[in-house]
Amino acid sequence: MTDTRPTLYVSRILPDPVMAIVRERFQLVQDPHDALPAPLALREGLCQADAAIVTLGDRIDSETIHAATRLKILANYAVGYNNIDLVAAQQHGLIVTNTPDVLTDATADLTWALILATARRVVEGDALVRSGAWTGWSPTQLLGAEVTGKTLGIIGMGRIGQAVARRAVGFRMSVRYHTRQPLATSSLPREWEHRSLQDLLGEADVVTIHVPLTSATQHLIGARELAWMRPTAFVINTARGPIVDEGALVEALKTGIIAGAGLDVYEQEPTIHPELAGMREVVLLPHLGSATVHARVQMGLVCLKNIQAVLDGRPAPNEVH
Ligand code: DGY
Repeated sequence: MTDTRPTLYVSRILPDPVMAIVRERFQLVQDPHDALPAPLALREGLCQADAAIVTLGDRIDSETIHAATRLKILANYAVGYNNIDLVAAQQHGLIVTNTPDVLTDATADLTWALILATARRVVEGDALVRSGAWTGWSPTQLLGAEVTGKTLGIIGMGRIGQAVARRAVGFRMSVRYHTRQPLATSSLPREWEHRSLQDLLGEADVVTIHVPLTSATQHLIGARELAWMRPTAFVINTARGPIVDEGALVEALKTGIIAGAGLDVYEQEPTIHPELAGMREVVLLPHLGSATVHARVQMGLVCLKNIQAVLDGRPAPNEVH
């Protein structure tokens, strides 16, 4: 009997519950691996598919989009979609979707993990214990910064920025946020105050970034902006690496312009600035923002929901423009 199921390209292996549904409902162009496909393999895969699930490491350029004439929907397995040439997709009538909401809590939680790990020197402490060189409690050992009662500066106040702000209540932190325009006060607690970027950077003890990567936000935080920060302040980035000028950040850390950084994302992932790995004042994670079982399964289900809608001729619930 002929297989009439639609053809799906999946660029990376996804969590088991998602793959089980994928295998049941679709013909796979090929069995995905747990590695980024080479650009040519990616293009070939997309050209054979009615629908595709791609990840943030897959660069989908205009040439690929124009070649993939059969493809109706690119479901990006991420909330950010800076890896896709949206203009080309739109010109080509290709629907692009993302996975908002389902990873908000996971990413906000990880942001807090980085805030606390950076301020309280958690990774250095772990390394000391593992090294066998720990000689016991000391009044002056690995003293960090207190975050309770301090000021949290949030750049970008979308879903994730707001989820991070809500978690600050438990730490009795004052929340300042920067967006291009202040948000309607009715939609936010009154205590969250809007600031210009410069004022926010000057006021905050912890600065955390939650804007999407666009041409306007690339290197939003560079040498000038880091110089506006307090020498005791920390910067946390769980959004996209290129929003921070990594070279300028390294310089600011080396010269004591700021006190530390917690990074989950990098300018050239998976490569990082060569000096970062040797710095004690940074905590470095391998892009784990959405890495919980729950979030990653839900992200897959959101991709499948969007694909099903488009293949059925209905609007995709999470189309991006
Ligand atoms: C996203 O969804 O954009 C995240 O970076 C993936 O973890």
